[in-house]
Amino acid sequence: MELLATQGISKIFTKRRGMFGETRTVALNDVNISINSKEIVGLVGASGSGKSTLARLLVFLYKPTSGKLLFEGNDITGYRSRQIRKYRQEVQMVFQDPYASLDPNHNVAWHVRRPLITSGYSGNIEERVDQVLEMVTLSPPEYFKNKYPHQLSGGQRQRVYLARALAVEPKILIADEPVSMLDVSVRIEILELISKLREELGISIIYITHDVNTVSLVTDRVYVMHSGMVVEHGNTDDVISNPTHKYTRELIEAAPNPYKRI
Ligand SMILES: Nc1ncnc2c1ncn2[C@@H]1O[C@H](COP(=O)(O)OP(=O)(O)OP(=O)(O)O)[C@@H](O)[C@H]1O
Ligand SMILES: [Mg+2]
Repeated sequence: MELLATQGISKIFTKRRGMFGETRTVALNDVNISINSKEIVGLVGASGSGKSTLARLLVFLYKPTSGKLLFEGNDITGYRSRQIRKYRQEVQMVFQDPYASLDPNHNVAWHVRRPLITSGYSGNIEERVDQVLEMVTLSPPEYFKNKYPHQLSGGQRQRVYLARALAVEPKILIADEPVSMLDVSVRIEILELISKLREELGISIIYITHDVNTVSLVTDRVYVMHSGMVVEHGNTDDVISNPTHKYTRELIEAAPNPYKRI
């Protein structure tokens, strides 16, 4: 089943220059992507190709300049704030920098509790916090709950952020370069965890990166982006083993040594 799709999405940023001038950046140009339930889809492309803009648009941090965003078949571009809040629970995002994404003044339990409180979670909040910490293998939860961000490694922080995103039972997780700031050994652990979450929770995942090797480790399908456009897409193994587009070949050549498939 198709869960989320964009139809002809474009995003133009305009910046004022002096009194009359204006610069325009076409960050996305007629982008069509879709993700089915329980699927892991990759968005891969060089720096500036529009990956993060697309991710932000999918979680409503930006509005598209034109085009439609369909969630479970409904066009949500005209949603009002209450509907947007509900949608934002269904689609959670994990960012690149685990050092910047957690509040240094609060402990792990606070971070995971917060989305539960603000969404009006009706179950036992402490039990849910323990459950999601176990899910991301921050175990035993009692040990990690009282830790502050500075007491955790980069990989552990990213797990806390994942736990926070998963707490409200989203249908889709968007991970924007979630491992690019981590050590190679920790990268694999986090990617394995992401694959496991799909199996165990049945959620869909959009995995964003510039590294084609990690894309081929975890994704079923991939979209290759260049200059705000999707230049190639398909089954990941097919695209990587038989790239038809020049930019896909360039990304493959630029990639470091391959990892073993998870
Ligand atoms: N808020 C903004 N205002 C103006 N231009 C922007 C804004 N955000 C992104 N852009 C521009 O849009 C284009 C796409 O940027 P984006 O961050 O989506 O690329 P990316 O693929 O995520 O790159 P990276 O791999 O470096 O994270 C770039 O040219 C960028 O400079
Ligand atoms: Mg980006």
